[in-house]
Amino acid sequence: MLDKKIVIGITGGIAAYKSAELVRLLVKEGCSVQAVMTTAAQSFVAPLTFSTLTGRPVYHNLFAGPIQSSTVHIDLARWPDLVVVAPATANLIGKAAHGLADDLLSTALLAIRLESCPVILAPAMNTAMLCNPAVQDNLALLRRRGFIIADPLAGDLACGEAGEGRMVEPEQLLALIKRTLAATGDYKGETVLVTAGPTREALDPVRFLSNHSSGRMGYALARAARERGARVILVSGPTSLEPPAGVEFYPVTTAREMFRAVMGFFPIVDIVIKTAAVADFRPELIAEQKIKKGEELQLKLVRNPDILEELGAHKDKQFLVGFAAETADLLTHARVKMERKNLDLIVVNDVTREGAGFETETNIVQLLYRAGGVEEFPLMSKLELSHRILDRIRACRKG
Ligand code: CTP
Repeated sequence: MLDKKIVIGITGGIAAYKSAELVRLLVKEGCSVQAVMTTAAQSFVAPLTFSTLTGRPVYHNLFAGPIQSSTVHIDLARWPDLVVVAPATANLIGKAAHGLADDLLSTALLAIRLESCPVILAPAMNTAMLCNPAVQDNLALLRRRGFIIADPLAGDLACGEAGEGRMVEPEQLLALIKRTLAATGDYKGETVLVTAGPTREALDPVRFLSNHSSGRMGYALARAARERGARVILVSGPTSLEPPAGVEFYPVTTAREMFRAVMGFFPIVDIVIKTAAVADFRPELIAEQKIKKGEELQLKLVRNPDILEELGAHKDKQFLVGFAAETADLLTHARVKMERKNLDLIVVNDVTREGAGFETETNIVQLLYRAGGVEEFPLMSKLELSHRILDRIRACRKG
């Protein structure tokens, strides 16, 4: 049994009839459900359907709710454990993204504190509308701010076309609601700094030295820590990934920029997880003009700061986690790094193994603990591995 307080917002789309089924499933799970309908939604399904299913009057008017209150929108925002808007039209999505509040649902959404009340939006619309850059940008913006988007499915649409835009099925929405509410929140109150991706060291205005890091492991860790309630600061070198929802994102390019950003945040963080593949060297000089080809080119490289070593030297209460990408003698090298950088935990990665390393969605690692123990994990997705690593960090810190 879920037994939670849920506000369901229903906007004007044919998928509104599916929301009646979602409400039925939620009520069956022991939830108290409050329906809020827009004016357009009431042209698709009668409020009576929802008031009958929820056992509560439907809210729709900002100024005259079923209960006489001058602050219906605030009461609505304070009450629930979770809000789901299904279906969410392009109009509602646009209003939520840009802070517009011209009816009860959009006004209540503005009053929600996402840290304590997750909001799931289930878009439903014609494919052309969904693909419109305005809608896509709005969805991306909302995702970055921490809204959860139940990505619409491909299939037959009410307009007679086939394509992406169908609202996810009620059972799938229920599963997403359960997953969202089950997020343990065991990192609430913690500030986690994650570094990710490669760094780039310029040679001239068009060339740089870098490495194969994709940033996937760090982004997965940032997402997992956020899902568990942490305040997450993600300092990332250049990657092609979208920052996970709800994290504070600081893009950097060079090792020295990453060094400055990380040192700046260090005093306020509890845990640092350094997945970034920092370039150990940079060209001594960056040519102002493009280097022209000659018979040969000699580059003089100089050392970059070792960010983690610096953190290790200055650590106070912080828990430090390093990543070691190795190709041979894994544990020996990792142990030396752990000592040198004064780490609490090091995640050791044999990047030559299939299913491990840079561009993959999966990883195979060993965890080496400060006290000396070693733990080996089987092949798993980087997100699942992130949750295991967070479990272990928690256990270590509890002592
Ligand atoms: N690291 C860092 N700053 C550097 C180099 C590495 O903060 N200039 C961090 C990485 O983010 C990682 C850990 O140190 O968490 C180990 O990185 P790795 O490249 O495996 O080790 P190095 O110390 O660079 O040693 P080597 O390259 O000789 O293996």
